[in-house]
Amino acid sequence: MNKLKSILLLFTLALCQCKESNDTQLKTVSLNKQENEGVVAANGMVVTAHPIATKIGLDVLKKGGNAFDAAVAVKYALAVVLPKAGNLGGGGYMVYRTADGKKGALDFRETAPALASRDMFIDSINKTVMNDKALLGHLAACTPGTVDGMDKIHKKFCALPFKDLIQPAIDVANQGFSISEYDAWTFNRAQKEFKEVNDSLMIFIKNQPWENGDTIYQKDLGKTLERIKELGRDGFYKGETAQYIIDEMKSGGGIITKEDLENYSAVWRKPIEGVYRDSFNIISMPPSSSGGIILVQQLKGSNAYDFKEMGHNTPETVHIMTELQRRAFADRAEHMGDLDFHDVPVEMLLDDEYITNRNASIQLDKASLSTDIKAGKVDKIESLETTHFSIVDKDGNAVSITTTLVGYFGCKVLVDGAGFFLNNEMNNFSLKPGFPNIFGLVGGDANAIEPGKRMLSSMSPTIIEKNGELFMVLGTPGGSTIINVIYQNIVNVIDHGMTMQEAVDAKKHHSQWLPDMIVVEEGTLDSLTLDKLKKLGHTSFREVEQLGRTEAILVREDGSYEGAADNKRTGDATALGY
Ligand code: DON
Repeated sequence: MNKLKSILLLFTLALCQCKESNDTQLKTVSLNKQENEGVVAANGMVVTAHPIATKIGLDVLKKGGNAFDAAVAVKYALAVVLPKAGNLGGGGYMVYRTADGKKGALDFRETAPALASRDMFIDSINKTVMNDKALLGHLAACTPGTVDGMDKIHKKFCALPFKDLIQPAIDVANQGFSISEYDAWTFNRAQKEFKEVNDSLMIFIKNQPWENGDTIYQKDLGKTLERIKELGRDGFYKGETAQYIIDEMKSGGGIITKEDLENYSAVWRKPIEGVYRDSFNIISMPPSSSGGIILVQQLKGSNAYDFKEMGHNTPETVHIMTELQRRAFADRAEHMGDLDFHDVPVEMLLDDEYITNRNASIQLDKASLSTDIKAGKVDKIESLETTHFSIVDKDGNAVSITTTLVGYFGCKVLVDGAGFFLNNEMNNFSLKPGFPNIFGLVGGDANAIEPGKRMLSSMSPTIIEKNGELFMVLGTPGGSTIINVIYQNIVNVIDHGMTMQEAVDAKKHHSQWLPDMIVVEEGTLDSLTLDKLKKLGHTSFREVEQLGRTEAILVREDGSYEGAADNKRTGDATALGY
């Protein structure tokens, strides 16, 4: 992995040498890269989960596109090179901050189809939850939001023609790309489920195992992208592509209709904001994501503790963070759902006094217990199949986007003829009060299924200002762990003085109220720390290979950018700047 980083650094430094001579606005900062920093560049930075998508984004910036142009190009590129998560058939969120300090958020989360109903996954005879149906196959799919989201971003912010932004993705779909070892592993792992829910012998099904270096051609997806290029959102939500989706639904018992597709509309929202350590303003995603509220609750609660003094990943710090996480996630289960359907008490949840009172029961020398509801099983925590990317351009426009299909390859149904996977977003609703979803999260009425409603999310694309100026752009996949991973990245930089790359690489821990457990990355806690946490009353621990997969950018003191890609597990994530 270090070798990969050095190659990327050399590549980036080479790019820094060859600035276009006709562009007089490029910054000329002398870049003194320090040890343990990620990729450093003066004029723009793109960090995504795939090298091809990152390169496409960087090319757009160098051609004079802004961060939003690059974001649209990257999103379509990820839909091709990251079929398990990248997505036309899913949805996501954007948080942005323009160079002149305007902030906003776009909610292009999927919506429940009109035929969906509250108890649709409850077996009418024995009243049990049919969880598998909300995870695998056609019924799990909700109306996709990504294409409408990109359309709205393009109309509001982009400088370059849409056709130029989607073309690189079309080229990769048609000309093919080589898959990585990690891609091959995920393709092989999903074979049985692919065969179970797809009638056609779709391109991802193979008799021999997929291998590192195999080439994937996606001609059907290329044609779908061509239709979007020609017709914009109508190339997806109407006409031929819509018909492919409807036919697919009919063949497998799904419920998305022509009207659901035509009616889909992404929503501009006011981001959640909150102050950390006086100088830092956190800007993150409001409901339908729970992310922004929980993150700000945790950071505001953290203001009462000196993590720098307490030390990174010491028993004292892990204990306090766990207690803060436990309380914030309890609020998630009770109060949070789609703002357009449920009256989320946002102001109350972010009120300083409310947070102080709520955390007053935290004791330095004793863990509290999460006992109220039956504990959920956190059995899919290792599946990292959402994707995040962060982009900053030379003017300082910043874009933070996280999108998902939920599970890897979503519901595993590839829309026949159209070449993309559909999400399994039904599982992010509360299927029955207290019944845990794949991330072990419980919920109630606020997040019950209703036609047209958006399911509650943990995705938290985030931007931070320091003294009113752009400071950090970050986000990660990881289901319920997303919020805590972002929380720790922020604390790592602001309190523990880490570089962005060190913060991303640092081991993380996670707690979410129910189940009452601390999940840690392997090797996070030495035996002494573990013993001390047990003495404090934390009884249940679980080790996982990785928590989150952060793609982040930090604005350095000299105004240049540090891009930090998370390659702890896969080796594909890439930061490039110029
Ligand atoms: O919206 C959510 O919170 C989930 N659908 C995110 C899923 C995810 O991050 C899966 N990858 N680990």
